[in-house]
Amino acid sequence: MCEPSKVVLMATCALVLLGRVCQAIETDLFKHAKTTVNITNDLPGGVALTIHCKSKDDDLGVQVIAPNLSWSFEFRPNAVFRNTLYFCSFAWPNQFHHFDIYDEDRDLDSCGKLCMWSVAPDGPCPWDDYYKRYDDCYPWNANAALRKRPLRGTLT
Ligand SMILES: *[C@@H]1O[C@H](CO)[C@@H](O)[C@H](O)[C@H]1NC(C)=O
Ligand SMILES: *[C@@H]1O[C@H](CO)[C@@H](O)[C@H](O)[C@H]1NC(C)=O
Repeated sequence: MCEPSKVVLMATCALVLLGRVCQAIETDLFKHAKTTVNITNDLPGGVALTIHCKSKDDDLGVQVIAPNLSWSFEFRPNAVFRNTLYFCSFAWPNQFHHFDIYDEDRDLDSCGKLCMWSVAPDGPCPWDDYYKRYDDCYPWNANAALRKRPLRGTLT
């Protein structure tokens, strides 16, 4: 038998879920509009940037970005759970880093449908549409072993 508190809890869950489902249907069957992530190699010294981006079910392969050039990819963020995550490795001579290049929770409202990043030695810098420049750079992800999120396979 269900206790009253459980009934309240279940009703609350059902309402929350229903809200999300309605939102999803509104925004075209569980997905938001197409989003583009554009990554520019702004490393000094004319070095190539080798990146490898993945999501839970999408491997975008190894990409080599020549100095001052860009690469981009497209996808449709999840409208129900807001949990779309693309993470990349970034390598250039003597350096190897990781960064969550698209975190739906962080980026859905901040960069919208075009998320632009400039990769600098200390970390990636998002495009600031107000000041029309790349600023407020993020640090690279901390060592994967120290992170609370489970490891999602190896990036090379
Ligand atoms: C890249 O851009 C920087 C700054 O504008 C410039 O100094 C450099 O020569 C460029 N490098 C290449 C390889 O085009
Ligand atoms: C990425 O953005 C830069 C700067 O706006 C642009 O020049 C470039 O064409 C874009 N690259 C790709 C692959 O979309």
